[in-house]
Amino acid sequence: MDLMDAARAARENAHAPYSGFKVGAAIRTRRGMVYAGCNVENVSYPEGTCAEAGAIAAMVAAGETEIAEVLVIADSPVPVTPCGGCRQRLSEFASPEVPVILADLSGEAGRMTLGDLLPGAFDRAHMALD
Ligand code: THU
Repeated sequence: MDLMDAARAARENAHAPYSGFKVGAAIRTRRGMVYAGCNVENVSYPEGTCAEAGAIAAMVAAGETEIAEVLVIADSPVPVTPCGGCRQRLSEFASPEVPVILADLSGEAGRMTLGDLLPGAFDRAHMALD
């Protein structure tokens, strides 16, 4: 499945009545599957979740943990990047080389790597887990 189509479709279902800012995210795994998510806001504002968090949850629920590519889409004047918390969430399952495609409603608007977005990430090595 196309990463752009999956993220765009998920974005349509975003629950964003408070910000009015709908976001879609899609992940392609190393096995080639695609998982998508959207932001889900809550009247208790801090309980809202980001599109990336939803896509990660769908991936993990399906039994996958290795991210190969990420795409985030929003209707924004400058390409939307994952928030700080989502950079860390992605970093749990993606290496620094993983491409993060930034899209607006007209298509791809930019491309970075997760390492660009989160240099010096706190990871398992800091916990002496590897
Ligand atoms: N949001 C995301 O879902 N992903 C991002 O990468 C940036 C921000 C959401 C959170 C909130 O529902 C809305 O966008 C405005 O911040």
